[in-house]
Amino acid sequence: MSPLADTVARRRTFAIIAHPDAGKTTLTEKLLLFGGAIQMAGAVKARGEARRAHSDWMKVERERGISVTSAVMTFDFEGRVFNLLDTPGHEDFSEDTYRTLTAVDSAVMVLDAAKGIEGQTRKLFEVCRMRDVPIITFVNKMDREALDPFDLLDDIEQNLQLEVTPASWPIGMGRGFLGCYDLLGDRLALLEKTSREALPGAGETCQGLDDPKLDRMLPDHAVATLREQVEMARGLCPEFDLDAYRAGNRTPVFFGSAINNFGVRELLHGLAQYAPPPRPQPTTARAVEPTENKVAGFVFKIQANMDPKHRDRIAFTRLASGHFKRGMKLKHSRSGKAMNIHNPLLFLAQDRERAEEAFAGDIIGIPNYGGLRIGDALTEGEDLRFTGIPSFAPEMLQKVRPEDPLKAKHLGRALGQLAEEGAANVFKPMIGADWVVGVVGGLQFDVMADRIRTEYDLPVRFEPTELYTARWVEGEDARELKKFIDANRSAMAEDYDGAPVFMARNAWHLNKAVEDWPNLKFSKTREHLD
Ligand code: G4P
Repeated sequence: MSPLADTVARRRTFAIIAHPDAGKTTLTEKLLLFGGAIQMAGAVKARGEARRAHSDWMKVERERGISVTSAVMTFDFEGRVFNLLDTPGHEDFSEDTYRTLTAVDSAVMVLDAAKGIEGQTRKLFEVCRMRDVPIITFVNKMDREALDPFDLLDDIEQNLQLEVTPASWPIGMGRGFLGCYDLLGDRLALLEKTSREALPGAGETCQGLDDPKLDRMLPDHAVATLREQVEMARGLCPEFDLDAYRAGNRTPVFFGSAINNFGVRELLHGLAQYAPPPRPQPTTARAVEPTENKVAGFVFKIQANMDPKHRDRIAFTRLASGHFKRGMKLKHSRSGKAMNIHNPLLFLAQDRERAEEAFAGDIIGIPNYGGLRIGDALTEGEDLRFTGIPSFAPEMLQKVRPEDPLKAKHLGRALGQLAEEGAANVFKPMIGADWVVGVVGGLQFDVMADRIRTEYDLPVRFEPTELYTARWVEGEDARELKKFIDANRSAMAEDYDGAPVFMARNAWHLNKAVEDWPNLKFSKTREHLD
């Protein structure tokens, strides 16, 4: 294997998908702990501080108890380099989450053992399925009263139409939770009796379930139940199969308790062993192989305020190929311009470190002053357009105006910056003075109002409109397009780039426009216009 191929093959870029409260934050912290990225003693404190830091710069987050921040965390384990991309958990922030899922090669699905598959788990899973992202399942909170393991497996299978293979088997649950038997590695891992934490070390190696060691280490009833249940599970579930997992058809299921560090090592070991290395990335012209020598990457997320002290924006870029070095000059495919990437960032928990080099699968943060947008490609010269980065139709439209009418210009600037981040669509009606903002989930209005107030010192009001939906209008024949715009001026707006947008009052209004102007194209997103 060439050195580049070897380096790439060690990368594991993944995200955690979970319904809020299932334990994503806790598991993330423990993964970082086992990966050596944070210290045991500092962990709890760091968590508290990190939480406070987050909340400080986003009041909405504190008020609603949700995480709207997102970052990339890198750590090493068993010779692999892991990039964990955090996904905002709340339903209303799904745009960012969906886009983040376009930048990973696999996912860990965390379930609350008492609840099984929940609403948000299913939604996020569907996004993974669209892209055949392989999934490892972690059933968390086994230290509490939980559903029966068979019911949990059945829930995953029935609810998600996904084959399951238990990778470990829980011994008891709640107060009676003793530990797990690792079915893929034939190891017994137990909880420490008094602290109820995972015992240090990787567990006791066994010679299968008949090993008399088990009889010595576990109470009689627990061994009997374990043997019986595993036999049944093996009869019911298919064996673990790497290809079926990597094709996204089968999920290995680990049981554990993140808060007690239990099952985390096994999960990481599973990721190290089975999760796929960076996969080829599709473009309109060809698939980019991760081992190609030339650098190519795509922006999947733009985020403001990584640091509350600076009003900066970072373009999160997933490398698809090549060996990236700091200071490299890359071509920005959309504008054709060369960009010097002097100070890219790697993200480690809340800290930033300078990236000296990076490879396929790695994420680099490029400080961005407006040029980069979601979906943009950066290459060493080739013109590429990566595909599959979703954009979303603005389904909810509201007017926004500053409390102080003299601040309209300031508001325009603030909205423009939020539009570039992909946080919302911003429209300027051709008639009238108000801006219209289009989002996918209603909570985004609150978040935007809060950000405009705190970041731009500009109190604003959002107000409902009678508008039903927005469509970008395109036409081969410029005269025809102009005719349409002139005939519908009261329903026309421009987006932040000046592209014409038709704002329909209702479904009938939209259908009529589509029927009356067959030579024009009405699009829900503006992806294809770039
Ligand atoms: P999320 O990011 O998916 O929303 O979940 P998070 O990790 O914040 O966990 C949600 C709650 O579940 C937290 O309790 C957390 O301590 C608890 N938790 C996580 N893993 C386990 C586990 O393995 N066992 C048990 N029993 N609880 C677990 P909280 O009271 O909401 O917050 P905190 O005050 O403990 O931080």
